[in-house]
Amino acid sequence: MPIIERLDALEILDSRGRPTVQATCTFANGASGTVSVPSGASTGTAEAHELRDGDPKRYRGLGCRKAVDNIRGEINQAFHGRTFADQAELDHVLIELDDTANKSRLGANAILAVSLAFAQACAANQAVPLYKYFAGNQKLTTLPRPMINLFSGGKHAGGQIAIQDVQIMPLRTRTMDDTLAMTVEVFQTAAELVYKKYGMRLLTADEGGLAPAFADSESMIEAAVEAIEAAGLKPGVDVALTVDVAASHFYDAGFYQLGNERLDGSAMAEKLLSWLEQYPITSIEDGLAEDDWDHWAAFRRSAKGLVLGDDLLCTNPTRIQKAINQSAANALLLKVNQIGTLTEAREACDLAKAAGWRVVVSARSGETEDNWLADLATGWVVDHIKVGSITQSERLAKYNRLLAIEAETGLPVIEY
Ligand code: PGA
Ligand code: ZN
Repeated sequence: MPIIERLDALEILDSRGRPTVQATCTFANGASGTVSVPSGASTGTAEAHELRDGDPKRYRGLGCRKAVDNIRGEINQAFHGRTFADQAELDHVLIELDDTANKSRLGANAILAVSLAFAQACAANQAVPLYKYFAGNQKLTTLPRPMINLFSGGKHAGGQIAIQDVQIMPLRTRTMDDTLAMTVEVFQTAAELVYKKYGMRLLTADEGGLAPAFADSESMIEAAVEAIEAAGLKPGVDVALTVDVAASHFYDAGFYQLGNERLDGSAMAEKLLSWLEQYPITSIEDGLAEDDWDHWAAFRRSAKGLVLGDDLLCTNPTRIQKAINQSAANALLLKVNQIGTLTEAREACDLAKAAGWRVVVSARSGETEDNWLADLATGWVVDHIKVGSITQSERLAKYNRLLAIEAETGLPVIEY
């Protein structure tokens, strides 16, 4: 492995106009990698700590100058002139240097940016595409099947509807090209339907989803079914729905405030089961709150399809192991910045796969034009990728990268 010459960083802006961190790792032989890290809005409480400046006069306290300075200063000093055998060795040194349980001293945004920039620089040094670096010795077999945001509510759309995302997933396509073409058809049809019904133009939420004034969560789901049909496709056969309920964000003291309904955990689990019965939904993410473990297990016992944990698991191996032990989920939503290094995220991924779970690699609501997520999902051979809607360049950067990887490798999209 080459010697690290320098780690540098820059405060840049994400898709919501909030600061985030970009890092560059340069080796002494000249190879280098530059990446930027995303940021969430509907965050789990067990996520690694995103370091923000807290100065209300600048970016309303959200500045990332401290995280940037940590890379340019302390981390650069610790890493300059050193060589690391592999990604795991570098990541462990970062974790030790920070020396807190949730990466709050140096900031998970600073730490992840360095972890990823090193990966990108290693790929450049080996003259291989980033997905091959991520794959290592593992054979590349498939591309992930995307779940694409159609309608938004929750924290991504001003909270007008309790549930956060209704997504679509083409089921039978085998190429990324066909998958995206079908998705765009449904998205455009949905936009036309919404315009007719609500008199709205393409008004979009954080991840580019449509966000009209639906009366309730069921109307949002039904509008998606209607859009699939109006596009000439069969719901549940050609295209399924996947829903991110993000229930932690309307849960308080044992109750879920689902629009006008106030439900306890059992009633919420019943509600989700009724949706699975009634609608062509194949995956429910965060159907229950992040600490409502008992009801997760009860829901999983009766649910068909993916019981997908986001805030519940926070890409954290300890929480994933707990969920495996309690049979609380059967799929992992993997967001690298929830845990803060590639090595720990990989551990989370492997743990979930070994338990027979599906893995869904996910972007955040605050994204950048960077596209490493597509390489990660391909290289780690996961089942699905969730990037948001099929509009807005910070989302399209990832889909376009998947198209380029498809053209380069000829890999098929994983069978559902
Ligand atoms: P976030 O949302 O990036 O705002 O956390 C994405 C999700 O909940 O899956
Ligand atoms: Zn989520």
